[in-house]
Amino acid sequence: MANPDAYLRQPWRMVHGIPMVNAFAYDWERIDNFQSRPEDIVVVTFPKSGTTWVSEIVDMILQGGDPEKCKRDIITKRVPMLEFSAPGEMPAGTDLLATMPSPRVVKTHLPTHILPKSFWENRCKMIYVGRNAKDVAVSFYHFDLMNKFQPHPGTWAQYLEQFMAGRVAYGSWYDHVKDYWERRKDHPILYLFYEDLKEDLRREIAKVAQFLGREVPEAALDTMTRHTSFEAMRDNPTTNYSMVPSHLMDQGVSPFMRKGTVGDWKNYFTVAQSERFDRDYVQKMSGTDLCFRTQI
Ligand code: A3P
Repeated sequence: MANPDAYLRQPWRMVHGIPMVNAFAYDWERIDNFQSRPEDIVVVTFPKSGTTWVSEIVDMILQGGDPEKCKRDIITKRVPMLEFSAPGEMPAGTDLLATMPSPRVVKTHLPTHILPKSFWENRCKMIYVGRNAKDVAVSFYHFDLMNKFQPHPGTWAQYLEQFMAGRVAYGSWYDHVKDYWERRKDHPILYLFYEDLKEDLRREIAKVAQFLGREVPEAALDTMTRHTSFEAMRDNPTTNYSMVPSHLMDQGVSPFMRKGTVGDWKNYFTVAQSERFDRDYVQKMSGTDLCFRTQI
C-alpha cells in the first residue's frame, strides 16, 4: 500500500455502507476506535461545503485573531482531517491528531452514523457547515477533476446523476445534511450555512466565537473577517492547498479555491437538469424543516 498508484483514481471502497475515498478506507479500525478528547472541536461537513473556510475561522478564533499565528503551518496540519490517509505520501490524520495539544480542531466529512462514537460520548462541540446541494455538486465535480484521490468524475451530466444517487464520496448529501440537522437537537452542534457566511461573514464569525465561548474584541473580528475572505484565503499558501503536490491535486485543472460564490450552479445546470434535480430534491428532503438558499 505504499504505492500511490494503488489508490489514486481508484474506485470507492464501501465503509459501513458509505462509499469512501479508496486511500482513506484502509485500516478503518483506526477511525472506529478513535479516542476523542472532551475539548476537541469538530468541523464537520459534506465535502465542498466550506470546510476549509470554517477551519480557518476556528483556528483564527483560537489564536486570538492573529493572522501570523495562523500562518504557522498549512491548514491540513493545523486542522487535520480525521479520516485522511495517503500511505507513502503524507501522514494519516489520526497520526497528526495524536501528537496535537488540546484543544484540537478536527476536520471530517463522516456522516453521523460512522463518526467515531467517542465524539458523541465525550459531547465534543461540533460545527457543521451546510451548503446548497446544487453548488456542492458543481464544486465537487471540479474537485474530482483535479483531485486524484477521487475516481475521475466523467462528464458533468454523468456526475450529476451519481451525486443525486449518493454514489459519490461520503454518500448521500441529502442524508448527511439531514442527519446532523436532527442530531443538533441532542448534541452541541452549531449548524452554519455557506450562504450565510457569504452574506455576512463578520456575523457568522461572531456566532462561532460565541459557540466556542471565546470573547472576541471588535478589532479582532475585523481582522478575522479580512483574513478569511475568499481573496485572502486564495492568495494564502497556508490555506489554498498550493503545498499539495500536483500529482495528488492538479490545480492547473481546477484551483482548490475555485470561485467561492453562491449560485455558480446556474453556469452548469441546464434548465432540464435543474428541473429534474428540483423534483428529486423535494422527495429526498420531504419531512425535514431544513432549508437551503441556492442564491442570495
Ligand atoms: P467552489 O468550488 O464553489 O469555489 P471545502 O473546503 O469544503 O472543500 O469547500 C471548498 C469550497 O469552498 C470551494 O468552493 C472554495 O472556493 C470555497 N471556499 C473556500 N474558502 C472560501 C472563502 N474564504 N470564501 C468563500 N468560499 C470559500
